[in-house]
Amino acid sequence: MIVLGIESSCDETAAAIVDDRRQVLAERLFSQLDDHRPYGGVVPEVAARAHLEHLGPLIAETMRAANVGFADLDAVAATAGPGLIGGVIVGVTMAKAIAAVHGKPFLAVNHLEGHALSARLSDDVPFPYLLLLVSGGHCQLLVVEDVGVYRRLGATIDDAAGEAFDKAAKLLGLAYPGGPAIERAAKTATAPIADLPRPMLGRPDCNFSFSGLKTALRQRVETLRKDGVLGAATVANLAAGFEQAVADSVADRTKRAITTARETVPGLSALVVAGGVAANQRLRGALAAVADRAHLPMVAPPIRLCTDNAAMIAWAGLEHFKRGQTDTLDFAPRPRWPLDADAPALRGAGVKA
Ligand code: KG4
Ligand code: ZN
Repeated sequence: MIVLGIESSCDETAAAIVDDRRQVLAERLFSQLDDHRPYGGVVPEVAARAHLEHLGPLIAETMRAANVGFADLDAVAATAGPGLIGGVIVGVTMAKAIAAVHGKPFLAVNHLEGHALSARLSDDVPFPYLLLLVSGGHCQLLVVEDVGVYRRLGATIDDAAGEAFDKAAKLLGLAYPGGPAIERAAKTATAPIADLPRPMLGRPDCNFSFSGLKTALRQRVETLRKDGVLGAATVANLAAGFEQAVADSVADRTKRAITTARETVPGLSALVVAGGVAANQRLRGALAAVADRAHLPMVAPPIRLCTDNAAMIAWAGLEHFKRGQTDTLDFAPRPRWPLDADAPALRGAGVKA
């Protein structure tokens, strides 16, 4: 059984072909990072145009690399939301066209479900497990009980973790994307700033918040700049302090979620960590310690499957297809599409749930 997957919900244009034996036959990804870098963030209009320009050739190249023709496919899957709607429409329209022309089933995949199930593609993780999803657009903790059965334990009430890294990097005069730049700078720190706030620490819920930490960092930066002591060494110490504060906060929220999940779901198999921020070594270390203390294996899919990619979309589509579930060609792309529709609504400045 082989499925073509298409991802175009943010700033990565991607195609992949995956089979039901967890093999990625081929995958191609075009990162639009250079298109968005001048703006210091993803510009939806620019992204949609870039997806339109690159997606067709990228799919053709993926098919060639896998030595597969459209007739060989069992189904075509595309991210149908949530995400920047212009890009989502490009991917969904392409998938529907291929499905219609070649008489194949179409699978509308929830991008978050792609992240949620990626650890089953990489590591065959059995249900149920706890997922921490930390990226530029998402920040949530979910119990993954089965295909299509997700329970959200918590999410950010303002910025996503990656967004916080990106904003902090901007404040510190570091490059975009901010996460890798902060991690690089932090490695050279000699005296990390230790007294930045750890948002939400010890709270009984499993939500995240980063805006207070960002404000604290901004105030520190302004004071230090006024005093004329904001050189590279100080920036490195601030970067390390910020990184540690995020790691402490996310680790605390995850620890809380393990306890909460275990109250109702027996037999959690693992803590799965996904999303671009999962690349951060300090965060990984903090999470590994939490998992270890909870006697829970930690699974982090390889980075190419952790960040936005099409293999996870093909795989999530396949998991549904194996259960006999497909979608009709009138499925409408969705800018918002929560995995757990029953989760309580969150309030905050820029809720990313
Ligand atoms: O999953 P991803 O590639 O795209 C989505 O947002 O969906 O995540 C990108 C985010 C960016 O905000 C970036 O700054 C952050 O992940 N990131 C990191 C690191 N690498 C990427 N954050 C902290 N440390 C890193 N090493
Ligand atoms: Zn994503």
